[in-house]
Amino acid sequence: MAAAAIPEFGEVQVQVTEPFGTYTGGTAVMNHNDEIVTLPTGWHVFASTAHCQHALVGTAGIYAVLFHPEVDHSEHGDALLTHVAFTLAGCTPDYTYDLAAYVDECVAWLQHVVPAGDVELGLSGGVDSAAAFALAQRAYGPRLHATFVDTGFMREGESEEVRGYFGSESISYLEAADVFLEHIEALPYTGPEPVGEAKYYDQVRRAVGQCFIDTFVQHARQQGRVPVALVQGTNYADIIESVTNLKAHHNVGGLPARLDVTVVEPLAGLFKFEIRQLAAYLGLPDEVVYRQPSPGPGLAIRMWGPVTRTKTAALRRATRILEELIRQHYPDPRQRPSQYYLALAPLASCGLMGDDRVYGYAWVIRGVTTRDRESYVTVGAFEFSHAFLQDAARRLTNEVIMEDGTRFVRVFVEITGKPPSTTEPH
Ligand code: XMP
Repeated sequence: MAAAAIPEFGEVQVQVTEPFGTYTGGTAVMNHNDEIVTLPTGWHVFASTAHCQHALVGTAGIYAVLFHPEVDHSEHGDALLTHVAFTLAGCTPDYTYDLAAYVDECVAWLQHVVPAGDVELGLSGGVDSAAAFALAQRAYGPRLHATFVDTGFMREGESEEVRGYFGSESISYLEAADVFLEHIEALPYTGPEPVGEAKYYDQVRRAVGQCFIDTFVQHARQQGRVPVALVQGTNYADIIESVTNLKAHHNVGGLPARLDVTVVEPLAGLFKFEIRQLAAYLGLPDEVVYRQPSPGPGLAIRMWGPVTRTKTAALRRATRILEELIRQHYPDPRQRPSQYYLALAPLASCGLMGDDRVYGYAWVIRGVTTRDRESYVTVGAFEFSHAFLQDAARRLTNEVIMEDGTRFVRVFVEITGKPPSTTEPH
């Protein structure tokens, strides 16, 4: 191995040079700085790319692949993996996903691991925690205590929407926006150069997580509960991205320790598309089943520069407008991007409003696609229609003004795939 002459990040074309099962090459995702320079004697090259001759190589019993056949944006990766697993390694394809059986087994397992005592769950409104909630409700009945925390970093009206889907009978809704905003605004800003900005947003993430934990634990204690377990909707992609150090754990890591409880993760073996099937089977409404993912820190990681109340208020309003535009231009949820959002860029530039030149900030629209498995380990850019983009540019510049009077005079569209980008800006 040595540093590649031309590293590759993102989608590349793979050419098959010697047959490898039914794998036919095509688009694949590369993410490498290094490459194999010299092949051991007796090894074959099965596939190459324009800048990497040894993209898929091997000899009897040992194979190496430099691109990522396992991710959504690699074409025909399944054929490659099928050949390795079932022909070369001799595995048997015996995995089945029968929803009725899964629910029965899962409920029995939940009861077995926590036979008695109070069980907590944090509901975010997303499909993962909602499916975990529906399963846990079946398993624990009144022993389950679900809590929704409004962090203030959600889009306008989100808390009310979630209440509409789930009702108030078995869920506590906590309004904690002021506490969260106060904590976040007090963080020292260490940007704006890349390292400082990254450090700052790591602090923001941790601070939102910590406030969530404090709010959650305080509520459970006030209710007089001494919980024994915490159910989390961690999915399989979260586990992969955590164990491979691609990112800090998605769920609120410090919560189990503060509560001194066991963590129970009934969805840890499922990809998001399987969780959506499960959620539909469990009778959750379509708006929850097809809900796009939302990061735990919410809108707090969708801006640049210090997070402030003023920016957050503008972003909440603008995000509501984006949601309206998506519903209007893409009424069928299956035609929508897998995930879409706005980020507030405090990038001052000139605009013209009435007879005046105005200096204002900018919006960045991001829409990403994933393929069937929806792992978000890789994403592609969604192609918005021109009509949608024009409406968005008009409404976002006309209808949103910061509380201090700052206008928005530009709208950008972010088109980078992951890799080399990520879905969220931080
Ligand atoms: P990235 O930005 O790494 O995100 O491409 C991949 C997926 O994960 C979501 N995401 C998060 N979810 N807490 C979460 O619960 C987080 O801190 C977080 N950061 C990113 C992101 O929205 C996308 O769906």
